[in-house]
Amino acid sequence: MESKESSLETSTPNVSPSAAASNAYALGLTQFQGFWIPSTRVPTSSIISFQKYFQALDDDIIVASTPKAGTTWLKALVFTIVNHHSYTLSNTPLNSANPHQLIPFLEVKLYRKNPNPDLSKIPSPRLFSTHLPYPMLADSIKHSNCRIIYITRNPFDIIVSLWHFFRFMDDWSVEDCFEMFCRGKEGCGSFWDHALGYWNMSLEKPSNVFFLRYEELKEDPVAQTKRLAEFLGFPFSMEEEKTGVVNQIVDFCIFNNLKDLEVNKTGKMAETILPSYKLYFRSGKVGDYVNYLTPAAVERFNNILEEKLSGSCLTF
Ligand code: A3P
Repeated sequence: MESKESSLETSTPNVSPSAAASNAYALGLTQFQGFWIPSTRVPTSSIISFQKYFQALDDDIIVASTPKAGTTWLKALVFTIVNHHSYTLSNTPLNSANPHQLIPFLEVKLYRKNPNPDLSKIPSPRLFSTHLPYPMLADSIKHSNCRIIYITRNPFDIIVSLWHFFRFMDDWSVEDCFEMFCRGKEGCGSFWDHALGYWNMSLEKPSNVFFLRYEELKEDPVAQTKRLAEFLGFPFSMEEEKTGVVNQIVDFCIFNNLKDLEVNKTGKMAETILPSYKLYFRSGKVGDYVNYLTPAAVERFNNILEEKLSGSCLTF
């Protein structure tokens, strides 16, 4: 199969040939099944094991996302919604564990440690997460009735967030990161194919795939939390709505509250090159990219997106 990078380089308009490819982040990416996989953290063998052995159950819930789209926030919300009858906000495990510990990544965590882990003892509904694009999910997920919630975000804020995130290991510029995005070369990218896969499935199977945007969650977190709860099969009762349960959940999961929990301020991450949970909480704003990307860069990426998403009704 022709390398996707070389075909992208010739087919993607206005991409600078000098785009940096020598930073550690770029060097850690491998073409696999049509997407760029950060194979130093996610060995392709873990993906193959996940695809081969994972048996989805109809009541499984899978948080899917493009990296830096708000995964941590969504995990906190999903965990709290699903467990709102089991825990109060003062005794929820989120007070002492990062959301990524409570909703583990299938490919990054579960199938990396063990090619065929026993997941049968996990209480129902099992909560998992993935950054993998839809076409790379295990067939059992696609053929089951399980629910997937996908979160994406305006790509410019993703670029800036990703750039900041990997500065702990890379002396790279935001322009380096931007150029890679223009080539579709970022973890689990391209950005457009990642989003399109879940978008199309959300249209095809709306009761199984929920397509959410970070900006929508920011704009009306209460309404979106209620929608999420309904989709997940854990709707709030009238009584709960009246007594402010939804607002309390939203307030608990809000950026400043999660960021200031001790585990998220000082907790160290095990078995990964990522140094600490603090990295997952930077500024939590919409539109921060205007401080980093020029209007010309934004226009250039918008032109690429327009071409890549043409024929679909997905827009950013
Ligand atoms: P910024 O770098 O723009 O601040 P992910 O969880 O997918 O890695 O995404 C991380 C991004 O989500 C970061 O964006 C981070 O600050 C933001 N984030 C984390 N928790 C959040 C929350 N509770 N509310 C809003 N944004 C949050």
